Amino acid sequence: MRPAMAGDQPAIRRMIRRAGINPLGLAWRRFVVVEASEGIIACGQVKDHADGSRELASLAVAEGWRGRGLARVIIEHLQRQSGPPLWLTCREGLVPLYTRFGFREVTDTRDLSPYFRRLMRLARVILRIVRPEEGLAVMLWPESCTNREDWPVSG
Ligand SMILES: CC(C)(COP(=O)(O)OP(=O)(O)OC[C@H]1O[C@@H](n2cnc3c(N)ncnc32)[C@H](O)[C@@H]1OP(=O)(O)O)[C@@H](O)C(=O)NCCC(=O)NCCS
Repeated sequence: MRPAMAGDQPAIRRMIRRAGINPLGLAWRRFVVVEASEGIIACGQVKDHADGSRELASLAVAEGWRGRGLARVIIEHLQRQSGPPLWLTCREGLVPLYTRFGFREVTDTRDLSPYFRRLMRLARVILRIVRPEEGLAVMLWPESCTNREDWPVSG
């Protein structure tokens, strides 16, 4: 695993497109990648948001490389590098994965940072139309960082 370089940008975009996850905000400077002889086989990043929250995002492992602990290597590295608190959004089905790393689902929207509150409002409307069968979860590491007094009420 290594920090991404400018030349990795197309491979990161390809990887995210193939994984079918959010294709926005893929600036290579924030990424770490795992490289094998065939090229980049896994990636992930931490995004900074205007409200001060930071998000573990764009976690993807190439299909043939899944189930070998690569996501674990990336998640644990980004947790170590960024420190708490870290937010993330994921499909409901992936909540058990992130629970292994100390993330907990934030179910009360009043506990969300302004950025995630706005995102969830929008995402719930869009997902109801596009993918009604699948819920979206917001998770926070560690759980004890949930403190709604920390976030402005508006936003
Ligand atoms: C989700 C994804 C990143 C997992 O990558 P991976 O390299 O196969 O995961 P790992 O092998 O490192 O697994 C790490 C741990 O999570 C568990 N895990 C992996 N996939 C899981 C899943 N879908 N649900 C629940 N737990 C899961 C593993 O059992 C392992 O736990 P253990 O170490 O205690 O045994 C990969 O399947 C992927 O790229 N999917 C498509 C993109 C995607 O959905 N990204 C997440 C966006 S939020």
